Amino acid sequence: MSERTLVLVKPDGVKRGLVGEVISRIERKGLTLAAMDLRAVERSVAEEHYAEHKDKPFFGELLEFITSGPVVAIAVEGPRAISAFRQLAGGTDPVDKATPGTLRGDFALETQFNLVHGSDSPESAERELKLWFPDL
Ligand code: CMP
Repeated sequence: MSERTLVLVKPDGVKRGLVGEVISRIERKGLTLAAMDLRAVERSVAEEHYAEHKDKPFFGELLEFITSGPVVAIAVEGPRAISAFRQLAGGTDPVDKATPGTLRGDFALETQFNLVHGSDSPESAERELKLWFPDL
């Protein structure tokens, strides 16, 4: 059964010219793009997107970072798209968790600057897609 997930190429990925690399890996996996947009992130959207982390010590820097430059938001579609993209992304910590061959394993060093975001559950995907692509 096909499902959708929200992928963000974070400001570090956009600044480093890795948008094409991310899209290429999504497409090579067999997933498709249902919608895509390069945009500046308003603070209110960032706060809502990361609401589950609002009590974490790194919440402030997370908001600073995600609003520090444009991101590319992508609605990605396909069978098991949520898990499939998380497999492509690799673990949140790009060195201790993400393995080589994954986006974070290949291109990132720090948890804070880990290149991409992918929804972590069907509930998160639904909530995040409504926030980023209300018309989808
Ligand atoms: P993401 O998948 O976008 O979801 C939450 C983000 O918080 C995560 O990726 C990391 O970028 C960030 N994050 C998680 N843990 C830490 C941490 N210890 N310090 C800074 N940022 C973190």
